[in-house]
Amino acid sequence: MQPLVMVVYGTRPEAIKVAPLIRALEASTALDVVTVVTGQHREMLDQVNELFGIVPDVDLDVFEHGQSLAQVTARVLERLDPVLVERRPAAVVVQGDTTTSTAAALAAFYRQLPVVHLEAGLRSGDIASPFPEEANRRITTRVAALHLAPTEESRDNLVRESVDAATVAVTGNTVIDALLATVAKDVAFTDPRLEQAASSGRPVLLVTTHRRESWGGAMEGVGRALRRIASDRPDHLVVLPAHRNPVVREAVLPHLEGLDNVLVTEPLAYGEFTRLLAVSRIVLTDSGGVQEEAPSLGRPVLVMRENTERPEAVEAGTVLLIGTDEDRIVTEVSRLMDDAEHYAAMATATNPYGDGRASGRAVAAIAELLGVGTRTDDFTVRTTAATS
Ligand code: UD1
Ligand code: UDP
Repeated sequence: MQPLVMVVYGTRPEAIKVAPLIRALEASTALDVVTVVTGQHREMLDQVNELFGIVPDVDLDVFEHGQSLAQVTARVLERLDPVLVERRPAAVVVQGDTTTSTAAALAAFYRQLPVVHLEAGLRSGDIASPFPEEANRRITTRVAALHLAPTEESRDNLVRESVDAATVAVTGNTVIDALLATVAKDVAFTDPRLEQAASSGRPVLLVTTHRRESWGGAMEGVGRALRRIASDRPDHLVVLPAHRNPVVREAVLPHLEGLDNVLVTEPLAYGEFTRLLAVSRIVLTDSGGVQEEAPSLGRPVLVMRENTERPEAVEAGTVLLIGTDEDRIVTEVSRLMDDAEHYAAMATATNPYGDGRASGRAVAAIAELLGVGTRTDDFTVRTTAATS
């Protein structure tokens, strides 16, 4: 019998980023895999699992509307513990920085099971932003036995915090594995308005927003900025796949009523979202995953945050941090719409976050941790720009 690796996840971005790893673990002859979902994101999680054809072995079903951070944490700790006792995994993999991720890491640590942290070492440097993710990822670092860092920068962050460099492998981000496998497929939009938008030839401004630290005034400002942009630019289409969180919807959507060049949709299946990303002209977002994906496709990204734990694409010039000030959002979007040289400089395709082989490196590093294999090469950023 091979060592059993348990993968625990609960939100949309975790599901997208663990899907290629689960597939690679299933294909491995050295390791066995068991999948556990917490259900922190009920609908958005199930949507991703369906797309990738993953049927979780265990579902902790912790979701509740209006759930607090403490409630999700408490439920994950309480409900995962007996599963750990029953299944006795050799290691537990968690991804990123959500409540699911850190609570699951703690539960595994309390049972003295080795924690493998996928997407380790991201740091904004500000414990309050992103909230609560920066704290979550630092806590997970402290209890992890193996750190799968996506980039050399994230590896360096860990080493600076006295993490033993021998316990860090640089894998690239598995989101690029998921993206490359997904955009290669020819997916049709379910919503006919999107099919029409894609074939209209009108430039699309793709917007996503959900960050907790922007709830309230800042997010209202995002809504007002979008209204101004859409009103000033009737030749453009603004497309907003809305996050399921009612707090987000109530802050943004009222500002967009009555505008016929604004298209608000439900959360899109990952295949449809990546196609939309590929046909968009500009991306305006506060999402972590979208910041990592859009540069691969050569789409300029304006990030509505004050800081980022993903500096690589900022350094590459394809991502610009613009904050959440309403006027600044309008100014920066307009500049990208009007200034062809500025647009061209930002639209260079580059892959600072991965080469599509992160899952393979992760499996090899886990196999080494469990004494049934050896690591492969680390991911290093290509110096030449990728082609999209
Ligand atoms: C969570 C993560 C965040 C991640 C984001 C990705 C934490 C603390 N936050 O934030 O790191 O970037 O997911 O989207 O873990 N809801 C639904 N159905 C769903 C999902 C959410 O109705 O499928 C609604 C519920 O009312 C829920 C609310 O959204 O109470 C917030 O969900 P929650 O998981 O608590 O936090 P997010 O803001 O989604
Ligand atoms: N995404 C999706 N459908 C959507 C919006 C986003 O599949 O309607 C994907 C996107 O491609 C990315 C991930 O969801 O991989 C990002 O999720 P989110 O922004 O919710 O979380 P974050 O990455 O900020 O933690």
